[in-house]
This record gives sequence, C-alpha cells and structure tokens, in this order.
Amino acid sequence: MPIFCNRKEVIHLKRYLGLLSLLAFAAVLFSYSFASADAAKGEAIFKDTKVGNCKTCHDTGDKKKVGPGLKGVTDRVAKDVIAKWLEDPQTLWDSGSDYIKDLQKRMNKEGKPKTAMKLPGKLSAEQIADVIDFLATLK
Ligand code: HEC
Repeated sequence: MPIFCNRKEVIHLKRYLGLLSLLAFAAVLFSYSFASADAAKGEAIFKDTKVGNCKTCHDTGDKKKVGPGLKGVTDRVAKDVIAKWLEDPQTLWDSGSDYIKDLQKRMNKEGKPKTAMKLPGKLSAEQIADVIDFLATLK
C-alpha cells in the first residue's frame, strides 16, 4: 500500500469532496430559506424589547413612529435589503443607494450621517429570516 494516493484516486477523492460540499451547501440553503423561517418566532422577536425591539419604533400599519410603518414593506423593499437593515442598519444607510436616498427624503433626513435605527443586539441569520417572514404577513 503506497502512503499517497495515485492520480486516479486523487481525482475520485476530489469529485467526492466536491459532491459533499455541494450537498452541504444545498442543505444549508434549504434550511435557511425554508425550514427555519417562522413568522410566529419573528413576531416574538419584533415585540421583544431585548431582542428585536422593532415594535418600539415601528407601527405594523402605515403610521410613522420613529421609523416608517411596516405594512406591506416586503412588497415595497426587496427582502435582501430588509435583511441588510437587520444585519447592520448603519452600513446600509452609508451605502447611499437610490433606495436610501428615497427613504431619507421620506423621513426628512437628507444628508443625515446616522440612521436612527438601532437594534438592541445582533440578530442571527435565522432570527432575521423569521422576522422577514413575519413582516411578510403585514398586509
Ligand atoms: C430605535 C428605533 C428602531 C428600532 C428598534 C428598529 N427600527 Fe427599523 N427603522 C428605524 C428608522 C428610524 C428607520 C428609517 C431610517 C432612519 O430614519 O434612520 C427604520 C427603517 C426600517 C426599515 C425600512 C423601511 C422602509 O420603509 O424602507 C425596515 C424594513 C425596518 N426598519 C425594520 C425593522 C425591524 C424588523 C426591526 C426590529 C428587528 C427594526 N426595524 C428596529 C428605527 C428603528
């Protein structure tokens, strides 16, 4: 038995590893986008002042509080942009994208260097998916 694999064995090994990582990636993607998203958990995060604290600043209808009312927000704002709000509001604000410019106009905050959206702590990817699932129920 040689210590190192021969060329053919290496090729097989590489294919096997490639397939394995593809499967692992698919499994993560699947669990992230389907299995874990849970609107009920998202609602709890939305209301809990120590976790999301969203309710303190956001109405679930159209009314403006500290931030905009979130009724129909998943129809107005792409889900990946909402995810960025929940990951890191200031970085999204700093991007100065057309969406942010429009929002700054809506909020009368043109040229303001800081967003007023401050979260109590960091949300996990799963918590973010749950909150977005809850936001999608606000019609
Ligand atoms: C301390 C207040 C505060 C908290 C807490 C907060 N937000 Fe915000 N949020 C804002 C403000 C203010 C804006 C608008 C940006 C600005 O004016 O700085 C905003 C913007 C948003 C937007 C974009 C809305 C639009 O019309 O484009 C979404 C979506 C959002 N917040 C969701 C959430 C969610 C979900 C949570 C809880 C996980 C949350 N926010 C927690 C204040 C807050």
